[in-house]
Amino acid sequence: MSNTSPVITIDGPSGSGKGTIASRLAKLLGFTLLDSGALYRVLGLAADREGLAPGSDSETIAALARRVEIGFGQPNVDSPWVEGSVWLGSDDVSLAIRTDEASAMASQVAAIPAVRAALLQRQRDFLGANGLVADGRDMGTTVFPDAALKVFLTASVEARADRRYKQLIGKGIDAILPALLSELEERDARDTQRSASPLKPAVDAVIIDSTMMSIEQVMAQITDLAREKLDR
Ligand code: DC
Repeated sequence: MSNTSPVITIDGPSGSGKGTIASRLAKLLGFTLLDSGALYRVLGLAADREGLAPGSDSETIAALARRVEIGFGQPNVDSPWVEGSVWLGSDDVSLAIRTDEASAMASQVAAIPAVRAALLQRQRDFLGANGLVADGRDMGTTVFPDAALKVFLTASVEARADRRYKQLIGKGIDAILPALLSELEERDARDTQRSASPLKPAVDAVIIDSTMMSIEQVMAQITDLAREKLDR
């Protein structure tokens, strides 16, 4: 029997604030949270640890995607990027998956169609009895095409770089704004130009441009939409 628990998808580019929004929304509604980017990040790290270079055979990396043990738990470390802990087997990789190298590995493994196919059911398995908020790039287009509410959250690349800059500086971490800007531009290009599940809004997604909005304003708009669509 198919699972009829409600799903809300939040897709968008890096730094759009979708991670924060998805996590707050899941808490507010009592839904499970799926941080799908973390799955690709753990897989990238696992491939690296197994000595699989980025150019390795796609099927070998897809086989790893099928067997790798990925876990989520309570926050375990103090970091601006970490809302909960992420595990590779018995290893807490919450910080290791957020490095620049791990981001690059994640985006490389994410471009392999067989890897995306291998992770598809794993992502769908996050939907339990409560309902799910799914954060990623292709949640509304591919993984949960029947979601009750699909949001595509975006913002100008300048606004996204500026937010990340302030977040880092606020935590006492050195950051260079032009470098953050060009990193974001590179990631946008990789995520939107790949052939397998590129980043794009689902046809039935509500597009929210948060360039001139605060997190609270975005939350208010999405909460209203969720109430309307979920009838609660
Ligand atoms: O959201 P994030 O920055 O943690 O994502 C890490 C990488 O994984 C990024 O390059 C985009 C990719 N990704 C993806 O291809 N599909 C998803 N559903 C989520 C992330």
